[in-house]
Amino acid sequence: MCGIIGITGDKEGMVSRLMAGLTKMEYRGYDSAGVCISHPEGLDVKRSEGVLDNLKETVKDMKDGTCGIAHTRWATHGPPTEENAHPHCDPQFRVAVVHNGIIENEVQLRQILIEANNNDCFKSETDTELVAHVLAQELDAECGDVVPDDEQLLAAWRRSLDRFDGSFSLAAVVKGRSDVILVARSFSPLILAHNEAGFLASDVSCLVGMVKEVCFIEDGDWGLLHKDRMELFDSEGNPVSRKSTKLQWNEEDAELGGWPTFMLKEINEQPAVVRACLQGRLSREALRGVKIPYKPDLVRIIACGTAFHAGMMARHYIEELSGIPCIVDHAHEFRYGTPAGPKALVLGVSQSGETADTLAGLMTAQERGYPTLSIVNVETSTIARQSDAILGIRAGPEIGVASTKAFTGQVLGGLLVALRLGRLTNKVHTEELAVISNAARRFPNAMERLLASTQLEQGLKRARRLFHDKNHAFFLGRNSSYPIALEGALKLKEISYIHAEGYAGGELKHGPLALIEDGTPVVVISSEGIIQQKLFGNAREVSARGARVIMIAVEGDEEAAAHADVVITVPKTHPLLQPIMHNVVCQLLSYHVAMDRDCNVDRPRNLAKSVTVE
Ligand code: M6R
Repeated sequence: MCGIIGITGDKEGMVSRLMAGLTKMEYRGYDSAGVCISHPEGLDVKRSEGVLDNLKETVKDMKDGTCGIAHTRWATHGPPTEENAHPHCDPQFRVAVVHNGIIENEVQLRQILIEANNNDCFKSETDTELVAHVLAQELDAECGDVVPDDEQLLAAWRRSLDRFDGSFSLAAVVKGRSDVILVARSFSPLILAHNEAGFLASDVSCLVGMVKEVCFIEDGDWGLLHKDRMELFDSEGNPVSRKSTKLQWNEEDAELGGWPTFMLKEINEQPAVVRACLQGRLSREALRGVKIPYKPDLVRIIACGTAFHAGMMARHYIEELSGIPCIVDHAHEFRYGTPAGPKALVLGVSQSGETADTLAGLMTAQERGYPTLSIVNVETSTIARQSDAILGIRAGPEIGVASTKAFTGQVLGGLLVALRLGRLTNKVHTEELAVISNAARRFPNAMERLLASTQLEQGLKRARRLFHDKNHAFFLGRNSSYPIALEGALKLKEISYIHAEGYAGGELKHGPLALIEDGTPVVVISSEGIIQQKLFGNAREVSARGARVIMIAVEGDEEAAAHADVVITVPKTHPLLQPIMHNVVCQLLSYHVAMDRDCNVDRPRNLAKSVTVE
């Protein structure tokens, strides 16, 4: 969740380089931030509460240096105050530490440290401060107050790490050693890289533009980052070297490029995402490139948040196209739940590839002997490297915390997996594949037409007014439009802070109808076929109780207007792809409602882009 970065080199300018890295990573956490410059004579720490702009003011007059670490925080221990912001130091300011993750034996460690020192020795409520205290204690034991050499640093660092349980990526600097940064990784991701300096980061996106290749160090790795090399050890203490890989994206991919927000940019990038994701993958031969570890009797999908909703879409596809039964679980439920079932394939879905629960779920599946396949956006991520096979969605960097284009890519990833399974079970014949692939080829153009249409613009203008002063809203769908209802509600609540619920239309009478009152906005994700009339019925039921209905329907649907206050239509496409088109309208509706409320759509409160803690 938090973002960490560190650089050690020969050149000054470290304050601005660290700030530039933090800016690219701010979406990971934005409730406070801090920087430490390690000078030969000592450590200089500056921290601020709130967004990064506050820290920019604080570091204005900071003395520059050649080595430093920095952090942007998503609070887990204690409120987002300056005291709780990283870097954290020991009482003597001998070490400074930045941390992403959670130290789970915090309570015991705190007790031990209090007994050795006194209760006043802690300045924050964080677990990270304990790391600084422990490291300082181990350095004292190793070399007193003499400046440690590499060997002493490593010995003290290893003994410190042995005292921590939990998940963490850590970086620490030590007084007098402004040439080196201590690093460690346990479960949480940590990336190292070199060009004219040594770099570390919790997120590859912050290194884009600074380096061309990165090295994903492995779970349990620890050591020293020098300006020109890394000295790494595995959890057993054996020296290890880790390979570097080329960066997947370039700098422009992660910039606004004239758009007012990343969310709007990413919504509008979806036609390009569809093209890229399906490019060269839909023919009979090309589908073989979707690597399925084996032909399963059951597919278990695991994911969180928006990726979970994409997983629900994938379930529809898999069951319809391959006939293989499929279960979708939140990864955190799967992880502590029952075994996956006989001859199951466990399918993870994750944009970042760093979601701790999804990663843990996949590892649990592997421990139980099940092969894993993951649909990911970041192909160098931990989940990608952990899985037996991956399918990249090629969506490019997604910076907005609210996932939009990645959802579309994940749904298409699910479709590709379903088609491949359908070929394996002989349920998808060449003719059907040709029909789907022709529709998919036309789909991005239809999406562009929707995004540019005045009908959409006018419809959104009328629809967003219905949310004025409202604190509750509902989204209704059925069958394949049900996951879209859930996703629509999630999008609205996370960026506009309006309480929203997605329901399967059939569920309405079983409880939620009691909440409908005069003026409640209800978004109905209509579709064609048998469910259309059922959803019209739902629309009538809520209208009769005072709700204001916004219907998202397919072009040419003459009847929709009779059941809604506002109708927004989308181009008609193949039924398998239709829900993706409806979802674009939901995304834009949430976007405009949130903008009307002056919300920061790219950085909604309390959230972070990658949820790297359990
Ligand atoms: O990186 P992942 O796809 O694994 O992330 C999963 C969720 O944390 C993510 O989709 C989250 O729900 C988004 N904020 C939704 O917009």
